[in-house]
Amino acid sequence: MTVTIVGSQLGDEGKGGVVDLYGDAADVVARYQGGDNAGHTVVHDGETYKLSLVPSGAVRGKVGVLGNGCVINPRTLFDEISTLQEKGLNPDVRVAERAHVIMPFHRVLDGIEEDVKSESDQEVGTTGRGIGPTYEDKAGRRGVRIGDLLDPDVLRERLEYVVPQKRALVEEVYDIAVEELDDPDAFDVDALFEEFREFGQRLADEDMTVNASAFLTDAMADGETVMFEGAQGTIIDIDHGNYPYVTSSNPTAGGAAVGTGLDPGTIADGEIIGIVKAYLSRVGSGPLPTELGGVVGDTPGYDEQGDGENEELATYIREEGGEYGTVTGRPRRVGWLDMPMLRHSARVNGFTGLAVNHVDVLAGLDEVKVGHSYELDGEEIFTMPATTEEWQRCEATFRTFDGWPEVDWEAVADEGYEAIPENARTYLEYVAEELDAPIYAVGVGPGREETVVVENPYE
Ligand code: GDP
Ligand code: IMO
Ligand code: MG
Repeated sequence: MTVTIVGSQLGDEGKGGVVDLYGDAADVVARYQGGDNAGHTVVHDGETYKLSLVPSGAVRGKVGVLGNGCVINPRTLFDEISTLQEKGLNPDVRVAERAHVIMPFHRVLDGIEEDVKSESDQEVGTTGRGIGPTYEDKAGRRGVRIGDLLDPDVLRERLEYVVPQKRALVEEVYDIAVEELDDPDAFDVDALFEEFREFGQRLADEDMTVNASAFLTDAMADGETVMFEGAQGTIIDIDHGNYPYVTSSNPTAGGAAVGTGLDPGTIADGEIIGIVKAYLSRVGSGPLPTELGGVVGDTPGYDEQGDGENEELATYIREEGGEYGTVTGRPRRVGWLDMPMLRHSARVNGFTGLAVNHVDVLAGLDEVKVGHSYELDGEEIFTMPATTEEWQRCEATFRTFDGWPEVDWEAVADEGYEAIPENARTYLEYVAEELDAPIYAVGVGPGREETVVVENPYE
């Protein structure tokens, strides 16, 4: 059977930890979209593993697959594999021949477009990894695929078509001289050819490329179990998210079929687990009706750091939850749980179970609020509207729950669900009821042992 792990909100819900939690029973862990814009964390045995491309099952020694729906930067892939090897892991990663390659010029273009958009306050706040430009070229039928790296003639032909276009885009549309960029080789066919032909050679030598559809279908036929590791989250899905403040792929459950080539019926026969952070965090721009305070530069219309009650609360949650960018140290935007957002997410994904993380982070607060519905133009609505402009106008109507105390969470995880403080259980049960999906796991800390397991989807 398959288990699909999906972010129900805006990313960073703790997907990596849940993949690790249930990963023991999986034989293969496959990513189906995104690239090194993801940052998944697994904490086990005093060690913290940060994974951006290698599927999180690597911590348990599982085979990892990067499906055709992923975009792959071979530089970061091989760097990450070496870093994990230095930590004593031995990642076995297979890459779909149909997956697209993030080229150095994609990263440069990601940066340029964000700069240009920022002049009119329209930047998305991307991770700068070249994700959007790579998916654009995929849709434009001018991309370079992993399979192309293995055939030097094809690789050269692709580069000779696409690179002059990118050079012209930089010079003629953006009016920037390529030679003055930090990395002019990103637009040089010969330099790209040499570097990426070698990556192709290495992928071939290490037998890393697969037809993902055949590989996963065969694995299933042999009785193996497959886990899908979604990256990002539903509200930054390019179709179902808060366009244009989204990533360029489909983190939602349907993406697992399209992004790997395992048939949708098989995936639907399995379980789809929604990963929910007990509050909200957001990296980048876009509306957030339940936001507490704001972050200058990311929160729309928020130009000066305030110091009100909500700011204090935001700082508290941020500190307790470690909601600071892993690379930049930049504070993440935080807010209360947003039920209209989660109802939308549950509908789009068809969750069969939920893992609610970071319940420990809210411990110690007198009360915990939830945006239960929105008011939009004088009407109460229960799900997210489709346009960003409407979502921006939504005002959250809150429900207030009594807070729960700080306790020995590891002991709670040991004892099980009933040991969770009663008020926290009330909160969890409200979420489960509203989303019509049972609680499978409750995260009470970052470690594998700091999770209350109610249900194991593989059992
Ligand atoms: P992902 O992108 O969805 O895999 O999530 P990230 O790894 O980016 O962010 C989640 C962060 O919260 C990581 O630092 C995790 O170790 C940590 N984390 C996960 N679950 C919990 C939890 O239940 N409680 C606490 N306190 N931290 C958690
Ligand atoms: P994980 O898998 C949180 C956000 C970026 C930006 C938008 C588009 O760790 O949950 P992109 O570089 O993808 O074009 O950026 O999406 N974003 C994430 N936010 N977690 C992630 O991944 C994210 N991946 C992208 O901040 O707002
Ligand atoms: Mg993350």
